[in-house]
Amino acid sequence: MTVTVGIDQMGFYTPHLYLDMTALAQARGDDPAKYHVGIGQDKQAVIPPTQDVVTMAANAAAQILTPADQKTIKMVLFGTESGVDNSKATAVYLAHLLDLPADTRAIEIKQACYGATAGLQFAADYVRSHPTAKVLVIGADIARYGLRTAGEVTQGGGAVAMLVTANPRILALDPVSSYHTADVMDFWRPLGRSEALVDGKYSTNVYLDFFRTVWTDYQAQTHRTIADFAAFAFHIPFTKMGRKALRQILPEATPDQQTALTAAFEASQLDNRNVGNLYTGSLYLSLLSLLRHGNLQPGDRIGCYSYGSGAEGEFYSGRLQPDYRAGFNDAAVTALLAKRRAVSVAEYEELFQQQLDLTGTDVQLPVGTDPAPYYLAGRQHQQRQYRHRS
Ligand code: HMG
Repeated sequence: MTVTVGIDQMGFYTPHLYLDMTALAQARGDDPAKYHVGIGQDKQAVIPPTQDVVTMAANAAAQILTPADQKTIKMVLFGTESGVDNSKATAVYLAHLLDLPADTRAIEIKQACYGATAGLQFAADYVRSHPTAKVLVIGADIARYGLRTAGEVTQGGGAVAMLVTANPRILALDPVSSYHTADVMDFWRPLGRSEALVDGKYSTNVYLDFFRTVWTDYQAQTHRTIADFAAFAFHIPFTKMGRKALRQILPEATPDQQTALTAAFEASQLDNRNVGNLYTGSLYLSLLSLLRHGNLQPGDRIGCYSYGSGAEGEFYSGRLQPDYRAGFNDAAVTALLAKRRAVSVAEYEELFQQQLDLTGTDVQLPVGTDPAPYYLAGRQHQQRQYRHRS
């Protein structure tokens, strides 16, 4: 008998600070319409030095894990390109912070923004052969291009945590997907740099080319067409990018379906528009945004396009489950986003420079200003000091 496997629960975290894109546009001498319409971003998460990918992942995972889940997790697959150590996996710190059992595998996966999708597919394969196991998959990142760069408007950060199980509550994955890899220099971050290097326009073209390739291959493999889909969720480095991807395939749909798919896209970009790029977590925040704001029915097929520069693209799909709204805490995500505080451009610029370096002398961070349950207290003897307040 085939086991149904997929995403059972989703949690999301982004820090308590954000930068308004009108303020950033004015400070950079740009027309705010370029940021809000041309790029499609309204707010950008600002990451205080007391948060990194480990704490953000813990804050996202803590929203969904019950004590029973914690005991049955067999694996943590942590997708990130903002790791804090060249050797030790972020997943090991996370497993410790979440008090997961010692018989847990804890691994970090890196391939730019694609890492969480690799984690999701590896997790699904594992659960298909171990149906009682639960796997925690993380996509957590801090998108940094640098002050006054073209990429600055597309920064952001946060974490999505997903529990992958048999008989999932949210999305049952179709056991087929299409992927494509090529050695491309569109975006990269050499060791020692905390900001990415990017060939921006080229990267947007590669993203679209890869989408066309995997979408065509998926259709050839499955004999499905756009008519089989109720919605698509995209990796959204900035919301205009997902809009351009959808526009590539919309002419394949009937006029009625074009209207429905466009409405679903609007729902899928709402939360990303207020957070910015979170690299590995971006597609999954978009999926969560679609679930939160979209007009979906159980049984609907959703297509997901994942893209990681460098580059790897994947298109896969899943069927929405009857009780999908029980798999995430809608009110908690709304409250998290609503409670954030706007920072001025000057404060953002200061915080941008304060991100804790990976190495250096002992540091104590101003932890009192960060309301998150999991936070970074500083560095001692070249070790990050993670803390939890209940
Ligand atoms: P830019 O040079 O600042 O912007 O770079 P632009 O001049 O191309 O303008 C952007 C859009 O705004 C254009 O629309 C303009 O027409 C419009 P489009 O032609 O694209 O539809 N515009 C206006 N609209 C309304 N009112 C106005 C106005 N002025 C202009 N007044 C760029 C933009 C995205 C290239 C830059 O921000 C960048 O380099 N970002 C980082 C790279 C990136 O996000 N790439 C995405 C694909 S790669 C990817 O997704 C992987 C990634 O997530 C990393 C990973 O995998 O780890 C990045």
